Amino acid sequence: MADKIAEIDTPAFVVDEAIANRNIKRFQEYCEKQGLALRPHIKTHKTVHFAKVQMDAGAVGITCQKISEAEVMADAGIDDILITYNIVGDAKLQRLRMLADRVKKLSVTADSAAVIKGLNAAFEHAENPLTVLVECDTGAGRCGVQSPDEAAELALLIKNTRGLKFGGLMTYPAVGGQPNVAEFMCAAVDLLKEKGILCPVVSSGGSPDMWSAKTDGVVTEYRIGTYIYNDRSLVENGSCDWDDCAGHVLVTIVSMPAEGRAIIDAGSKVLTSDLLGFSDYGHVVERPDIKIVSLSEEHGTLNYDAEKSLEIGQKLKIVPNHVCVVSNMFDRIWLRKENGRHEMLTIDARGMVL
Ligand SMILES: Cc1ncc(COP(=O)(O)O)c(C=O)c1O
Repeated sequence: MADKIAEIDTPAFVVDEAIANRNIKRFQEYCEKQGLALRPHIKTHKTVHFAKVQMDAGAVGITCQKISEAEVMADAGIDDILITYNIVGDAKLQRLRMLADRVKKLSVTADSAAVIKGLNAAFEHAENPLTVLVECDTGAGRCGVQSPDEAAELALLIKNTRGLKFGGLMTYPAVGGQPNVAEFMCAAVDLLKEKGILCPVVSSGGSPDMWSAKTDGVVTEYRIGTYIYNDRSLVENGSCDWDDCAGHVLVTIVSMPAEGRAIIDAGSKVLTSDLLGFSDYGHVVERPDIKIVSLSEEHGTLNYDAEKSLEIGQKLKIVPNHVCVVSNMFDRIWLRKENGRHEMLTIDARGMVL
């Protein structure tokens, strides 16, 4: 517990609970108005605490990227989990099989016959089939089938595979890619209809386009992660304001070796080297003159206007360029409560990459 920011040792990840809760509530209300099911991605906060806040606010379930994240959330009693990842290899397939026995509803995605074959090998003799959504590449150039025809083919394969059940279509679009999502998904849903296959879910996502999440009536579910804390990239693209940024890195000036140059106690092991299109490593709150120009592992180099005051020992608040990777660098959050006090919260699924 810390009463004031001054009592928090640095570098620290500080989250303003009221702002995070407001972000959760606001987007939940938006989805409800649009008739969209909301399935938040926990990769941003990685905490049981906030997953439960999201569920209590009305989320239909959560999204995880990794089995290890899903295991942490299942241990905490969350029982509707979508893992948006191709699960490959015996070790992971065995864990997936065990996880399925512990949650009410587990689903995964697949984008090839090879992945589907592996999933079936694990679930062929299971009591309940595993729900599998077909991942579609609607322009982001990551995983996903490349055409609506391929999506329909894989859906049919899943439907005809004993241990599996077809759960719908899923995409993680490129920023601004919603017209492509609409075109691809409408065509795929029509093809499925022709084959007599019902598509129960069309799942899309992404914070950069959150305020235009409803895509031509075809998307039924939205997955979103960064919106809970927001970050510099989302302020830059107009999705939120600085006041909506709940997550900050608190740092201390440890050296002022030359005029206009200062060093903070956070380098790439804290702020990460994720530039996300920016030319420096974060936004220093209330000091636009400061630029975080370079990082080594434990040092960050700042350039600042030497006319403005700065001193050794002074603390600065930084809004990260990309908050999800930064929160994964810490074991704990300092959670700022409404009364201004700070409590420690464990980041339960931090570092869960398996
Ligand atoms: C598959 C998938 N769904 C949803 C999200 C959430 O995206 P965002 O953090 O932009 O809201 C991500 C982010 O990486 C993702 O990979």
